[in-house]
Amino acid sequence: MSSATPLQSSIHASPRHVLRSATAAEHARVEGITGPLTSRQAYVRYLMGSYSFRVPIERALGEGALGWPRCLDGWRPTLIAEQLQADLRDLALEGASPAPPFDLKNWNPIGVLYVLEGSSLGARLLERQVRHLGFDATFGARHLARQRESSWADFVTCLDRCSPEEFEGAAVSARATFDLVASSMSSASNALVG
Ligand code: HEM
Repeated sequence: MSSATPLQSSIHASPRHVLRSATAAEHARVEGITGPLTSRQAYVRYLMGSYSFRVPIERALGEGALGWPRCLDGWRPTLIAEQLQADLRDLALEGASPAPPFDLKNWNPIGVLYVLEGSSLGARLLERQVRHLGFDATFGARHLARQRESSWADFVTCLDRCSPEEFEGAAVSARATFDLVASSMSSASNALVG
């Protein structure tokens, strides 16, 4: 066990709320780019953008490129790249390409994972939106259904036991992750317009 003081006891806001405040503007920006998923075109954009940033990050996680803080021991993220690929196939969009690999060596995994796992909260709303477009757990929206399996509450519990050392830089990495999300969503938008 680490002898470091858990982060929760050293600050007033919980680590989750620190990350939420630190990334509120970035989240709003992403939502502004994608808009509500009430048309097939909006959903295609979301799907292509998600695939683009998820593949290199999930690959880096699988290769251990991000390291793994002790406070996250026993918890694992809900990976969805495979289901995203299947959704793209359902929509005959096999041509979508992932973003090039990122160098995540100096990123704090807590910040990156906060963004990936937190997206499962909004996914419930998005799942309801795209059901009206004919997409569900068996066709076109497999990744959103998979996100329902996310262990978000467990992740938040893990955050509460992170030490200040483990948490250092998490907010910066969470914002940087949102920047990747935003640029992937924008590129997908441009690809559809162009
Ligand atoms: C149109 C697109 C999106 C919508 C409408 C949306 C909506 C939401 C909503 C409603 C919540 C709060 C849910 C709750 O508190 O129960 C949420 C949380 C969150 N979303 Fe999104 N989201 C979208 C896209 C994304 C994307 C693409 C990402 C990142 C890949 C993301 C990351 C997050 C994170 C990290 C949280 C957790 C914030 C917290 O700590 O409470 N969202 N989203």
